[in-house]
Amino acid sequence: NNGKINIAIDGPAGAGKSTIARRVATRLGYIYVDTGAMYRAVTWHMLQLNIEPDNAENVLQEAQKLVIELIPDENGQKVLVNEIDVTSEIRTLAVNRSVSRYAQIEGVRLQLSTIQRHMASRKGVVMDGRDIGSHVLPDAELKIFMTATVQERARRRFAEMDASESITLEQLEQEIAQRDQLDEQREFSPLVCADDAIVLDTTTMGIDEVATRILELAHTAMAGQTR
Ligand code: CDP
Ligand code: CDP
Repeated sequence: NNGKINIAIDGPAGAGKSTIARRVATRLGYIYVDTGAMYRAVTWHMLQLNIEPDNAENVLQEAQKLVIELIPDENGQKVLVNEIDVTSEIRTLAVNRSVSRYAQIEGVRLQLSTIQRHMASRKGVVMDGRDIGSHVLPDAELKIFMTATVQERARRRFAEMDASESITLEQLEQEIAQRDQLDEQREFSPLVCADDAIVLDTTTMGIDEVATRILELAHTAMAGQTR
């Protein structure tokens, strides 16, 4: 192999996965894959078409026609759906509120996880999501389960919002807790800590501290691999 490893980062909303995954990927010269953006892209498209998540057959039929692209750029990444830039549209409250319902559909999960495995097949990938260590990349050389209290996660997300989004901190906390619950309780590849994942509670940790810790773990995993 090329000496590279795959790193899986899973955990609930607002734990810091994408911020830290992106940073770790940059430092290692690896590719960052935001799998949440893929579920969000499918959700955005279904909302455009007014297809309800209960209508799994219809969702699947439409999902199969989608071309989802994640393109790295200076602000992180651009997300394209059939060549339309939906980078900001996929982060709205409307998408937040629906995404876990579309993400429950087995066929959608199968479709996206196949693409995700393909993206990681040559190693050198940092992938974040809910089911990466447990389901998508069970052989990843390093698995992190990142958590923080729901209060802290809501506080972080609230700090990111602009005034046009009318939601209180309490409402946001409730919505996040609800989404966590749906993600944990779904039948197919739920949010779960893989047996061999390292748990990192970031409630009182800063971004630099978390990134440094994961880089250390990554170097250890790389060393173990070449032995
Ligand atoms: O950024 P945030 O943590 O709010 O969410 P995200 O990572 O963008 O994921 C949005 C939603 O997509 C999650 O709440 C899950 O319902 C779904 N998702 C999933 O089911 N499996 C993944 N590997 C990634 C996301
Ligand atoms: O991807 P995930 O939903 O797990 O979280 P994120 O979008 O990376 O992080 C949510 C927010 O928390 C961002 O604004 C980060 O800058 C912030 N954050 C933090 O304040 N402290 C950390 N240790 C990690 C993230």
